[in-house]
Amino acid sequence: MSDIIVEGLSRLEGSVNIQGSKNAVLPIIAATVLSNGRSYINNCPYLSDVLASIKILECLGAECKFEGNTLTVDSTNIDNYCVPDNLMREMRSSSLFLGAIIGRTGKAVICNPGGCELGPRPIDLHIKALKSLGATVNEYNGCIEFSSDNGLKGNEIQLSFPSVGATENIILASVTAKGRTVVRNCAREPEIVDLARYLNLCGAKIKGAGKDTVIVEGVKQLNGADYFVMPDRIVASTYISAAAITGGKINIKNIYPDNLNSIISVYKEAGCNFEINGNSLVVDAPNRLNAVSTVRSLVYPGFPTDSGPMLIASLTKSKGSTIFVENIFENRFRYVDELKRMGADISVEGKVAVVDGINETYGANCEATDLRGGAALVVAALGAKGKTKITKIEHIKRGYEDIVRDLSYLGADIKEV
Ligand code: EPZ
Repeated sequence: MSDIIVEGLSRLEGSVNIQGSKNAVLPIIAATVLSNGRSYINNCPYLSDVLASIKILECLGAECKFEGNTLTVDSTNIDNYCVPDNLMREMRSSSLFLGAIIGRTGKAVICNPGGCELGPRPIDLHIKALKSLGATVNEYNGCIEFSSDNGLKGNEIQLSFPSVGATENIILASVTAKGRTVVRNCAREPEIVDLARYLNLCGAKIKGAGKDTVIVEGVKQLNGADYFVMPDRIVASTYISAAAITGGKINIKNIYPDNLNSIISVYKEAGCNFEINGNSLVVDAPNRLNAVSTVRSLVYPGFPTDSGPMLIASLTKSKGSTIFVENIFENRFRYVDELKRMGADISVEGKVAVVDGINETYGANCEATDLRGGAALVVAALGAKGKTKITKIEHIKRGYEDIVRDLSYLGADIKEV
């Protein structure tokens, strides 16, 4: 596997086009399992998680073609319901296929996704919800088998936590269930709205996506659809962080600015100016950021947990101290030790990280710990004096089409070797 090499302190300027959203396209790819036809998923980002999802679709019997940024899926002949162990391990969010596979075939077998780099990542909320839709669940030697002999039946579901994945799985399982499903305390992330838009285009009857209660009227079958995936708000926040740490001025294009309000308000407080122009924004950063008041990661529309690592990286050279409270994942700060190799002054106590901004950080040899932790190392390296080498960049390729290309177009001295 290659490494990323960054020579820091180049000021970023220019334009960058934002890719399609990973966290929207993964559930939409899972949703194609439900349709009895051909779908065209446009603005589909070229990511390793997308390639893993395509492998799962082909295991299930679908035919896929991925050309440019259009993924064509013909799921007419889906006849399998098992997700192979190796693919389950390759991508934890394969649990998103559960609802769709059960909805289509009446059965699903997956291996327990187990933990990931962010913590245990259980799927207990998914299992509980699928049971209330009529699925029976058997767990044996690391596998979980779901079956519903007479098909799933709509029900009222109250989520104990507004889990993004559980909300998506319930929607996927209920679109072809018999009768009405009402889900309360849903996650409200924009990616869920995108999933519902795609499914409704296929013939589903979903109301309320993006709010805390979603109502789904079951339909007999779904057709394919031609869909354009929303932009990736976390990738957009990554390039805001990159401009911020380099005192740069960049134009971020093909975005939905409304999805970025919580991130924009933090960077405004840090001293950045923003100019919103329709589906793009210009971020103009000061030479040195101010520290900001306590930031807490929360479910949408709060500050997204996924943007936390890149925010903390960009504050390593700010004036003053910032407190960051991580409320979503147990083990989100693994990248902090790597930032400390660059001289960053960050202390972590449980779910709280305190960043004490310093005048200068310097290049170091670092290892990506997870997807956004890896992106944080790239952001920090852009503001560090000298050369940084980042290894294990396969983590970064899970969520970024080509971070090296995008940043070098913006003037960064960055390459993949
Ligand atoms: C989605 O993960 C995203 N992944 C994550 O993005 C994102 O960080 C997360 O939502 C929160 O916004 C995709 O969309 C593919 P959750 P998901 O269910 O669905 C616990 C990235 O960097 N939980 O809202 O797994 C769980 O352990 C990735 O792009 C249970 O306890 O998030 C976590 O602590 C990382 N039981 C918390 O809830 C369950 O059954 C949030 O999980 C489900 C979740």
